[in-house]
Amino acid sequence: MTYGHRPVMLDEVQRIIDAGPGALYIDATVGGGGHTERLAEMAGPRGGVLGLDRDPEALKAAGVRLARFGDRVKLVHARFSELERVARASGFLGADGILLDLGLSSGQVDVEERGFSYHGSAPLDMRMDQTSGGPTAADLVNGLPEEELARILRDYGEERWASRIASFIVQARRRSRIETAADLVEIVKAAIPAGARRRGPHPARRTFQALRIAVNDELGELERALEQVPAVLAAGGRMVVISYHSLEDRLVKRFLRDAERGCRCPPDFPDCRCGRRPTLKVLTRRPLRPGAREVAENPRSRSAKLRAAQRL
Ligand SMILES: C[S@@+](CC[C@H](N)C(=O)[O-])C[C@H]1O[C@@H](n2cnc3c(N)ncnc32)[C@H](O)[C@@H]1O
Repeated sequence: MTYGHRPVMLDEVQRIIDAGPGALYIDATVGGGGHTERLAEMAGPRGGVLGLDRDPEALKAAGVRLARFGDRVKLVHARFSELERVARASGFLGADGILLDLGLSSGQVDVEERGFSYHGSAPLDMRMDQTSGGPTAADLVNGLPEEELARILRDYGEERWASRIASFIVQARRRSRIETAADLVEIVKAAIPAGARRRGPHPARRTFQALRIAVNDELGELERALEQVPAVLAAGGRMVVISYHSLEDRLVKRFLRDAERGCRCPPDFPDCRCGRRPTLKVLTRRPLRPGAREVAENPRSRSAKLRAAQRL
């Protein structure tokens, strides 16, 4: 299996996160290893990189790519919601930089059997970690109550036809179990009125995004990881997050605003009662976007938004 993936906004990440030779970095989303490689080059012989990924296949391929760095790159199969525990166990508490490059790698999308793509007839799996034993997308579409399916499609896919699609899914699964990506695409196409289907991207795109987010608890994972960042970074250390859809970006933006403000008391309290202090300084008032040239060369970068902050 190949994990070819072009790292997004690589130079921007370097410009923000570079702490000079000897630095310790954490790449919480190794994927194809492109960012990890750059971080390892920046850290040099006296520094190191801790790389996490929940996908064991990605880590295996990245291990080959990064072998030349020897034990200066340590790869761990873990979810980034385990950031603090893994950083402590690996000697990376007080890191100089943390990168989260969210979503899927091209390697995951392009391997049809993973079931992420709506362009195939693979089983509906969508687990980033197929060893996890957690539910697959097929388990969700065949098992969840109709209202819960509609909620997932609405909240995670921002799908305006959520209720109709959920209702069509429930009718279809009464006839036979929905097994493949192609089965689901047919159902979604039937549910969305023809006029609406002709506009915009592939009609099943939002449904697939929603299921993928639910299967992997992507927003819960992100929220738990961000909360741990201040405890893992050294003073002055920097965090970079690259997100690819508005739900993630909104969550990152809200987290940064709260971390910068510290106090979370209601505005009508005369004095702070929560006692929270600011932990981060935001470095990007607006998210950075890839340049036109990068988007032309790598269309998958087009939705990227990069936000960064520095530990106080
Ligand atoms: C966009 S790719 C990263 C690409 C990488 N920066 C590169 O240059 O090749 C995102 C990666 O994050 C991993 N991932 C997503 N959610 C994760 C989580 N909660 N914990 C750990 N890894 C996760 C995915 O398995 C995937 O390999």
